[in-house]
Amino acid sequence: MRKWLLAAAAAAIFVAPVAATAQAPIVIKFSHVVAPNTPKGKGADKFKELAEKYTNGKVKIEVYPNSTLYKDKEELEALQLGAVQMLAPSNSKFGPIGVKDFEVFDLPYLLPNKTALRKVTEGPLGKAMLKKLETKGMVGLAYWDNGFKEMSANRPLRMPEDYKGLKFRIQSSKVLEAQFRALGAIPQVMAFSEVYQALQTGVVDGQENTPSNMYTQKFHEVQKYTTLTNHGYIGYVVVVNKKFWDDLPADVRTQLTKAMDEATVYSNDISEKENAESLEDIKKSGKTELITPSAAENAAMRKTMEPLYQDMANRVGKQLIDDVVKATSSVTN
Ligand code: LMR
Repeated sequence: MRKWLLAAAAAAIFVAPVAATAQAPIVIKFSHVVAPNTPKGKGADKFKELAEKYTNGKVKIEVYPNSTLYKDKEELEALQLGAVQMLAPSNSKFGPIGVKDFEVFDLPYLLPNKTALRKVTEGPLGKAMLKKLETKGMVGLAYWDNGFKEMSANRPLRMPEDYKGLKFRIQSSKVLEAQFRALGAIPQVMAFSEVYQALQTGVVDGQENTPSNMYTQKFHEVQKYTTLTNHGYIGYVVVVNKKFWDDLPADVRTQLTKAMDEATVYSNDISEKENAESLEDIKKSGKTELITPSAAENAAMRKTMEPLYQDMANRVGKQLIDDVVKATSSVTN
């Protein structure tokens, strides 16, 4: 017995210094809700690859896609508590933690194209919006693209009256809620991971999302009609827990910033192609009928939603809406 104890003690003395000097990597848990083969999923994987390379293995990035760790609302709370370090929620999901500004991007027909979007995200407006996140314990590192949204349901959606009485799943944004109310529909906030089943079982009748999200979650398989409205945009803010970020060694923070900048260029470069390919795949599947609205139908939709720019001024801020409209209005289709 004594001999065994002595041997154990000797082993401990031998092992201890090694354990003390071996540097455990800094772990960043990056949680998100979409599939890996989407613009955000690929962006997160690219960030992992570059961050681990630039920090020479000092940082390990663990990517958790498809809500495997947390659903929409929970992931923001988990970030604030430090249970995860990094997320990329859509602009539409910051309202519940008290930052309503990002809901400006939900205003229907606000952005004619990505060039207009960049005017906001890469200019002083975009920077000022990121700064607001710091009071909520997070740092906004980048804006990532997804793309423009389509509408789907089991009824062909062409004119505003086609939406009347239908239940639509929405993200947690008051602007999106107002959008569906303007159409006479019934909006229902729901986590992204629950949408497929809700559509399949008829808990909701329809939804709005990008082709990439629709295809990778198979929404098109449980929706008879998809209308190519392109009425709104889904994009993301990559956020990191502020305390975690501030406490990192300065050189590591610099290397991670470089990795994030490059992953952002990558993700934003592929987003359009990813969505175009998904739309093609949806078409090929033959499971949902694609409807291209006429100019008159588009005009009727725009007209119905126009009052939102006034109605949402109290929520999002009149000045912000005016500034964003001004920044984007110089960009033509
Ligand atoms: C949604 O909830 O519909 C999207 O924001 C999901 C995502 O992250 O693209």
